[in-house]
Amino acid sequence: MLKTSFNCDTVELTHQLGLMIGQKAKPGDIWSLSGPLGAGKTQFVKGLAKGLGFEGMVTSPTFTLQHIYESPIPLYHFDWYRLNQSKEVEDLGWMEWLGRGGVVAVEWGDKFPKLLPPATINLSFEILSEEGRRLSVEAAHPESIPRVEELILCWPP
Ligand SMILES: Nc1ncnc2c1ncn2[C@@H]1O[C@H](COP(=O)(O)OP(=O)(O)OP(=O)(O)O)[C@@H](O)[C@H]1O
Ligand SMILES: [Mg+2]
Repeated sequence: MLKTSFNCDTVELTHQLGLMIGQKAKPGDIWSLSGPLGAGKTQFVKGLAKGLGFEGMVTSPTFTLQHIYESPIPLYHFDWYRLNQSKEVEDLGWMEWLGRGGVVAVEWGDKFPKLLPPATINLSFEILSEEGRRLSVEAAHPESIPRVEELILCWPP
C-alpha cells in the first residue's frame, strides 16, 4: 500500500495535479474521487481531461451520471452522488466501461467500494480553507503503485 498527500492551495494547483496525472495516464487507470460537496473533484477532472489531450469543456456529471470525453485515451467520468444502490451503477454498464481501455474517474466512488477493482487509485479531497485542499492518495495494487510513485517525483510542480 502506498499513501501520500498533495496540498493544493489554489484551484489552479488542483487542475495542475489532474493535468500531470492525465499526461502520465495509461488505458485502464481507475481513479475513485471522494470528499465532501465542493471539495474539488470535478475541478480535478477538468485538469485530468486536459492532461489526456481533451480540449473541450468538462462539466459535472452529477445529474447526467456519466460523461465521455473523446481524448487520445478516452476519459469516462462518472458521479455516484445521486445513486443509492450498487445495482443502479451496474445497470449503467459500469463493468463494461471498466474494460473499454479508457481512463475512469468516478466522483463519490467510496459509496460503492465493492464495485471498484483492486487497481483503483483512491484520491480523497479534504477542504482545509476557502481555497486550500488536501488530496490524499492511496494505491494498493502493483499496477497502480508506480503511478503514484511517478507523481511524488514531480510534485510540487
Ligand atoms: N484548491 C482548490 N481545488 C479545487 N477547487 C477549489 C479550490 N479552491 C477553491 N475551489 C472551488 O471549490 C469548488 C469545487 O467544486 P467542484 O465542483 O470541483 O467540487 P466537487 O468535489 O466536484 O463537488 P460535488 O461533490 O458537488 O460534485 C469550485 O467552485 C472551485 O473553484
Ligand atoms: Mg463534482
